[in-house]
Amino acid sequence: MCGIVGYIGNNDTKEVLLNGLEKLEYRGYDSAGIATLNEDGMHLFKVKGRIAALRNKVDENVHATMGIGHTRWATHGEPSEDNAHPHQSNSGQFTIVHNGVIENYYEIRDQYLANVALKSETDTEIIVQLIEVLYNECKDVKEAFRQTVAKLKGSYAIGVIDAENPDMIYVAKNKSPLLIGLGDDFNVIASDAMATLKQTNRYLEINDKEIVILKRDRVEIQTLDGTVIEREPFVAQIDATDIEKGTYPYFMLKEIDEQPFVMRKIIQEYQDEHDDIKLDSDVRSAMLDADRIYIIAAGTSYHAGLVGKQFIEKIANIPVEVHIASEFSYNMPLLSKSPLFVFISQSGETADSRSVLVKIKELGHPALTITNVPGSTLSREADYTLHLHAGPEIAVASTKAYTAQIAVLAILAVDTAKAKGLKFDFDPLRELAIVASAMESLTDQKEKFESIAKDYFETTRNAFFIGRSGDYNVVQEAALKLKEISYIQAEGFAGGELKHGTIALIEQDTPVVALVTQANINYSIRGNVQEVAARGAKTCIISMEGLEQEDDSFVLPHVHELLTPLVSVVPMQLLAYYAALHRDCDVDKPRNLAKSVTVE
Ligand code: F6R
Repeated sequence: MCGIVGYIGNNDTKEVLLNGLEKLEYRGYDSAGIATLNEDGMHLFKVKGRIAALRNKVDENVHATMGIGHTRWATHGEPSEDNAHPHQSNSGQFTIVHNGVIENYYEIRDQYLANVALKSETDTEIIVQLIEVLYNECKDVKEAFRQTVAKLKGSYAIGVIDAENPDMIYVAKNKSPLLIGLGDDFNVIASDAMATLKQTNRYLEINDKEIVILKRDRVEIQTLDGTVIEREPFVAQIDATDIEKGTYPYFMLKEIDEQPFVMRKIIQEYQDEHDDIKLDSDVRSAMLDADRIYIIAAGTSYHAGLVGKQFIEKIANIPVEVHIASEFSYNMPLLSKSPLFVFISQSGETADSRSVLVKIKELGHPALTITNVPGSTLSREADYTLHLHAGPEIAVASTKAYTAQIAVLAILAVDTAKAKGLKFDFDPLRELAIVASAMESLTDQKEKFESIAKDYFETTRNAFFIGRSGDYNVVQEAALKLKEISYIQAEGFAGGELKHGTIALIEQDTPVVALVTQANINYSIRGNVQEVAARGAKTCIISMEGLEQEDDSFVLPHVHELLTPLVSVVPMQLLAYYAALHRDCDVDKPRNLAKSVTVE
């Protein structure tokens, strides 16, 4: 989703901004721009399309030591050069980049900007025009900025520069992520630390409704009423080499291949010196206090939550509800007496989940975030955090975060069960090591999945994935993976549900992929495969060792029955990858999608 980078220092800012925006490309965007300021004035460059096009447009001869840049994922107004950021006030004095959505856009426009000719369709432009209107009244830029921010409702991360003052960047945030990066003779802003890791690994958090004045040698943080805030920086735990593709053609393939390593890393991080589970005792107490768990998540993380429900109910004997974050706020179920909310989020920044977190905190309920980004908003604002240790996930399509989420949920369930004194025969750390080897054997056989993808998905318009019980959870993820990167209309169905309507869509050669990893559904799901085959479907069965039959397309290596999603999803990820590749799709940056969805 939209990205921000800004720099104020002594070196040329163009490359810092362009390089930073390239690092944010993975988040998804449709236009981009930078503004730099030097003694000749403001220099603005914007394009609809990719950063590569922006690079070509930026004048190499303009040298400036401060500036702001933006990648835009359209919300208000189509993707176009006019709507791309940075936006300027009508006199050209103020220039802004903004992430988020201004909810009182119309009120501000009608109340303060009736006499201002707007140049774009964006909610962002009203912020910068309002700064100018208020500045014309008070003649104090900082005060005009403060007054403007105080009037905004909604989500925002903002960087503003004043053409008359090359020594400051004005910054503010509410709900949308934004960090200050600290250097020796420079400072930066970034909506994601990945944008500025080349410059620094020392960062300062900005809290909601704070404003920041960024200078070359100083950072001043204040609340809206002027109280000065002192805050200690933290060191970002990301290695700059983790965000390079290396020899891989796409990040998605690299991240699929990293899954065995991620499983081993999770074992290492969650194992104590006696080979037992090591988990924060506060998290354990929160689980023990809960009479019902509410898992809140979106997309792939929601699918991981569905698997987590099975673990927590079957192993720890606590009832679990899994909710789509964007629905929960508007249709809140009756809550139990002592609920624990578990937010699952790769990025830790998903606005839909955060909006639920804010609501349940107002109600006084405890929250645990399971995330890949410990310093993220959901992590900071929840009471407890469990880290996924998956390393940065750059491809828009989530792969290793999904398997990491499932692995951590398994560990959490077993830890709770042990603390409750429940008896069961399942050592997750040992079983995850077996999973890691099984994953490796799958990623070693890529050519098989490439060939299935070519055969089934090269030209098809739609596809179905079917499964029962635990496999049903995985086929939902399989369908999401395929549709988001290959644009094939794909659905994941419960095998038994097809004949209640959806089977009407089966035509000659419609691809139907069935997963069979659970002994108790082997017979029934194969029956569902026969039903669609009889109606012309082109069927493909992926089964688990011990359950296979002669014509199955692929047999998965055996792992513990509870952990089969970790293994069965890998072929699904590879099928989606190769389908997208063979259809000439941009695997890592699928159209219309954003990696971190920071608007509701
Ligand atoms: C799909 C995908 C999305 C995310 C969803 C939630 O491949 O990546 O469906 O899972 O947007 O994002 P997080 O996990 O960052 O909250």
